[in-house]
Amino acid sequence: MTAPLRAREPITVPVALGDRAYDIVIGRGIAATLGQTIAKLRAGARTVIVTDENVASHHLAAAEAALKQAGVASSRIVVAPGEGSKNIPTFERVCEEIIGARIERGDLAIALGGGVIGDLAGFAASCVRRGIDFVQVPTTLLAQVDSSVGGKTGINSRHGKNLIGAFHQPVLVLADTALLDTLPPREFRAGYAEVAKYGLLGDAGFFAWLEQNWRDMFAGGPAREHAIAVCCRAKAAIVARDERETGERALLNLGHTFGHALEAGCGFSQRLLHGEAVALGMVMAFDYSARKGLCSAADAARARAHLAAVGLPTHVREVPGGVPGVDALMGLIAQDKKVKRGALTFILVRGIGQAFIENNVDPADVRAFLTDAVA
Ligand SMILES: NC(=O)c1ccc[n+]([C@@H]2O[C@H](COP(=O)([O-])OP(=O)(O)OC[C@H]3O[C@@H](n4cnc5c(N)ncnc54)[C@H](O)[C@@H]3O)[C@@H](O)[C@H]2O)c1
Ligand SMILES: [Zn+2]
Repeated sequence: MTAPLRAREPITVPVALGDRAYDIVIGRGIAATLGQTIAKLRAGARTVIVTDENVASHHLAAAEAALKQAGVASSRIVVAPGEGSKNIPTFERVCEEIIGARIERGDLAIALGGGVIGDLAGFAASCVRRGIDFVQVPTTLLAQVDSSVGGKTGINSRHGKNLIGAFHQPVLVLADTALLDTLPPREFRAGYAEVAKYGLLGDAGFFAWLEQNWRDMFAGGPAREHAIAVCCRAKAAIVARDERETGERALLNLGHTFGHALEAGCGFSQRLLHGEAVALGMVMAFDYSARKGLCSAADAARARAHLAAVGLPTHVREVPGGVPGVDALMGLIAQDKKVKRGALTFILVRGIGQAFIENNVDPADVRAFLTDAVA
């Protein structure tokens, strides 16, 4: 993991899921090989690219050209950008257009975009003709290290996020790190919170490496592919052991219980992006763990210092317009599906790289902690 960075050969990370095993291929510029890769994977398959308007403006023409060059037929479905597209009307439209494009079992849908497109297109693929295969071409950092891997797909309900969905694994993930060059810096930074998460939850060596190498990663140097590969390997290993989140996969929710409450409290708006909420949530998970004597204050301070160094928010006062009060936050935490018989489940830490699942968190303790944190 701390090996010297050399030639920028694509890195392949296998996801070991038996007859649904697939590869994540990570490399700079590899979207140009999309056509050849698909022709090799599924000779004669037709494809339909699902993307959003922003991604289309930067990367759709090149993706279509790469397919055409290898003789792969493709059509396109372009939806509006943003979380709003993870809804039933857009889902219906995507399904109808996939069917209208005469995509059959044996053909492929291609999700070209961030987590919104991956979740929406993946869910449509899981439903059309009782399931067609799909390829993820993630275009945000968050999607390359998190949402494109592991097979969770879905859309939002009026009752909450991601409540309508399915497990549907892709047949290939092609993560071209050059696609991230067009990502707005704030989106890149937000995705970085999930990168740091892998170090903080289970890999202290990786966290130390990030402290040294994050600038090269942001600048598009070889550290970027390396870091993405480390994250994908970590997620692939966890998913292979616990695909349906009956246990260990929950560790990936480090920072997400506090984070979701803050995100929901801000109305899932541009005031607080998901990754920014996760950064705040991870700082809170460390601070809470330190307060309970589980983790050293030094480790909590180190986690906060790194997230602050890359420009992520680490205190709720940095959220423009502020966050809801303690009562509202407690209500949002209680709504979270991780509540059982009055006790809360949190991912807590014994130090950097040492997260664990705690099923017995006392809501009164959390309230006392939040009262100080939000003050
Ligand atoms: N399935 C999972 O396991 C999983 C895990 C984490 C998050 N998610 C979901 O992922 C979604 C968030 O994903 P996201 O942060 O990627 O958001 P996103 O897909 O909305 O992308 C963020 C913004 O960047 C734009 N964009 C994307 N790629 C670009 C590029 N290369 N250049 C320029 N602009 C680009 C998009 O149009 C959008 O405006 C949420 O809906 C969340 O629920 C799913
Ligand atoms: Zn997340």
